[in-house]
Amino acid sequence: MNSSFRSLIVLAFTCISLPAIAIDEYTKELYDSYCQACHVAKNGVAPKSFDVKAWDPRLKNGLASLVENAITGKGNMPAQGGCQECTYEDFEDLVKYMSSEKPAK
Ligand code: HEC
Repeated sequence: MNSSFRSLIVLAFTCISLPAIAIDEYTKELYDSYCQACHVAKNGVAPKSFDVKAWDPRLKNGLASLVENAITGKGNMPAQGGCQECTYEDFEDLVKYMSSEKPAK
């Protein structure tokens, strides 16, 4: 077996074993502190976190539009979800996190 073929196999296994989305601890912390209170419940208003089906129709508008709405507020979604310290990039990470399947860990 030549070595480039071997590294291809290693790469393939690495991809398979990755969770749905790699999440950093900081994003998780922000989510737990600010967003989950409303987004964890299936109350029919806020799109439920990790429920991909709840997010799909919204994601069709593009990630950027969801991030903008999260920052400016939308309906019963308060501006910035109450997170004053969150940056645009933080919101991008948060929206990706919430709209994907829950990571394994
Ligand atoms: C007080 C409750 C509450 C909190 C806290 C909250 N949300 Fe929301 N969020 C909502 C509700 C309700 C909606 C649905 C708004 C609508 O579609 O009318 C929503 C919708 C959204 C959407 C979809 C926007 C769109 O364009 O459809 C995103 C993205 C979002 N929230 C992100 C977040 C993030 C990130 C946080 C934490 C920083 C957060 N939310 C905290 C209640 C909340």
